[in-house]
Amino acid sequence: MAHEAFDKIKAIIKEIESQKPETAEALEQFRIRFLGSKNALKELFGEIRNVANERKKEYGQFVNEAKMAAEAKFKALKEELEASAEEASAQQLDLTAPGEPLPLGARHPIASTMNRIVRIFERIGFVVAEGPEIEDDWHNFTAMNTPEDHPARDMQDTYYLRNSTEMLLRTHTSSVQARTMTSQKPPIRIIAPGRVYRNETISARAHCQFHQVEGLYIDEDVSFADMKQTLLHFTKEMYGPEKEIRLRPSYFPFTEPSAEMDVYWGLETETDYRITKGTGWLEILGCGMVDPQVLENCGIDPDRYSGFAFGMGIERQAMLLYNINDIRLLFENDVRFLKQFTSVV
Ligand code: DAH
Repeated sequence: MAHEAFDKIKAIIKEIESQKPETAEALEQFRIRFLGSKNALKELFGEIRNVANERKKEYGQFVNEAKMAAEAKFKALKEELEASAEEASAQQLDLTAPGEPLPLGARHPIASTMNRIVRIFERIGFVVAEGPEIEDDWHNFTAMNTPEDHPARDMQDTYYLRNSTEMLLRTHTSSVQARTMTSQKPPIRIIAPGRVYRNETISARAHCQFHQVEGLYIDEDVSFADMKQTLLHFTKEMYGPEKEIRLRPSYFPFTEPSAEMDVYWGLETETDYRITKGTGWLEILGCGMVDPQVLENCGIDPDRYSGFAFGMGIERQAMLLYNINDIRLLFENDVRFLKQFTSVV
């Protein structure tokens, strides 16, 4: 019996030595078999009862050796497996591979359109001017010759600040005209991009918050011809050298005479028909010769100076430029929409 027990231990030690688990699962099987709570050595520890007294010590040491052999082997195998896993992942790490591309942001189509307009005017000597979005009644309306009973002044059309008939969210960038004329002397040649607000019902064509670019040119002997040539230059730069413009008589309180400018868009496609209402002409901006009363309101001598001004909506231009058919898309910040413009500068 005792011999048998010795032999069993020998066999187990052999087995332990011959094992070569190569995966984490196989190693776990090894652990369960030789070191787990019901391991193969346990029974042999029990056998010590049947060993003759004079060999008990020897037997005990032998079983212990087997146990230690299992432990040592397990430790060595575990380290080996971990090392080779590390090596494998190091091999997968290709240090020469190109880096992950960084998701760079891009300009919003409104910003890129605004920049494009501003750059065209900067190249012919206009300088960017700014004014506040929270404006006072004087700069937005009074200085700009807008009478008390003008509908634009109505509470329904304009966002006044709470408890105030004096402060409002500017309804147009024309307020920057008044700001500039009261703080600079002619010659003045400014371009003023910015956000404006009107109490409009939001639809595919209108929004309560939008962007405009204002232009103002004041000097001695500025004529209507100067204005027309400047706007023609802008149109050709913006939409292509073959584009033509026309000026239709209009009315604005701050210009006299006033005009609306159309660009000939063409009548080739169904979209051309829709956006030009079948005429081929598309309204782009309002303009005119600065009313002498406005010059006087702002402290500029109308007998010496004259000038022209214009204002255009940026969303409209962006929609034309990029073929966008609903203004709301420009304000929803849906990246699926905006991603289409990532190549735009
Ligand atoms: N401020 C006008 C608007 O918001 C646009 C405009 C028309 C601006 C004529 C001008 C101008 O400077 O001369 O509808």
